[in-house]
Amino acid sequence: MLIRKAPDIAPSEITPESIYRQRRQFMKGLAAGGALLMSGQASALARYALDEEQVRYLGPDWLQQKLRAAQKSSVFSTDEPLAPYEHVTGYNNFYEFGLGKDDPKAYAQNFKTDPWSVEISGEVHKPGTYQLEDILKGVDLEERIYRLRCVEAWSMVIPWVGFPLASLLKRFEPTGNARYVEFTTLHDPKQMPGQRSRFGTIDWPYVEGLRMDEAMHPLTLLAVGVYGDALPPQNGAPLRLVVPWKYGFKSIKSIVGIRFTEQMPVNSWQRTAPREYGFYANVNPSVNHPRWSQSTERRLPSSLFSPNIIDTQPFNGYADQVADLYSGMDLRKWY
Ligand code: MTE
Repeated sequence: MLIRKAPDIAPSEITPESIYRQRRQFMKGLAAGGALLMSGQASALARYALDEEQVRYLGPDWLQQKLRAAQKSSVFSTDEPLAPYEHVTGYNNFYEFGLGKDDPKAYAQNFKTDPWSVEISGEVHKPGTYQLEDILKGVDLEERIYRLRCVEAWSMVIPWVGFPLASLLKRFEPTGNARYVEFTTLHDPKQMPGQRSRFGTIDWPYVEGLRMDEAMHPLTLLAVGVYGDALPPQNGAPLRLVVPWKYGFKSIKSIVGIRFTEQMPVNSWQRTAPREYGFYANVNPSVNHPRWSQSTERRLPSSLFSPNIIDTQPFNGYADQVADLYSGMDLRKWY
């Protein structure tokens, strides 16, 4: 990835008014969560009751209700220690809002994520433009704690809230020609300063793709929340992909388009630097990036004196679940 050396996270000194209002709203939400708990229902909000100084993102009412009902999936979750909330929401890659790790949090706070719609197109029997609220009707959300391994060789353990991509794709009834799925992020330079920059690295909008069997794999998640709350804008609100066995750049944020295709899509990083980034981007410690090793990773939180370097696992530790998707393929060629 065309990256600058990441600075350590600088906690923001300033609280924009919108955040302050969200925080007040959070306190109300926390009280509501507590009431739910007392009535015997599990509450994701109460489960991650953070201190009141932390910014929480609640999203629209209909989403809050669904988030509170989310159940933890132990089958799909790791029990490794979670990255702290401020790392998950303050150390981000979202080039639409800038190249620095703290740019997305600084510049995405007024990003409008409600109402939101997703256009379904291509090789599919039920194309159309669907409101997010309709997409989520009848969907039970679950919490899954996944490892996220960035191609830049850092990683975090993150508690996402979402639902399997497969369940959504099936509803649109892909045709027999659908071999791949292409995802597109919103293109809105007015809201996204990175898309206005003359020094941009990416040909906007950001695009990603999966082979159909990868998209249908039970590990592949569409996330609408994190840490029991709605996704913050910097994490790809209101809808993002999470593919835990692939490098983080496959996990495209703020999705507005899903297209079923016969041809393999060209994803944004592959288009930008084809020698460095491929279509598959499976986490693979034995295939180095042309400019750095992929055999280890910096597990956040880490610091200069305690870098917390760990070995990178094939398929990010999910090999027993996904390796057979690639049997017979030369993973050096299909990086
Ligand atoms: N999606 C869009 N639209 N734009 C981006 O710049 N960055 C990717 C991915 N999704 C990116 C994106 C990269 S490189 C990573 S590592 C993850 O988002 C980071 O997700 P996080 O910020 O929620 O940890």
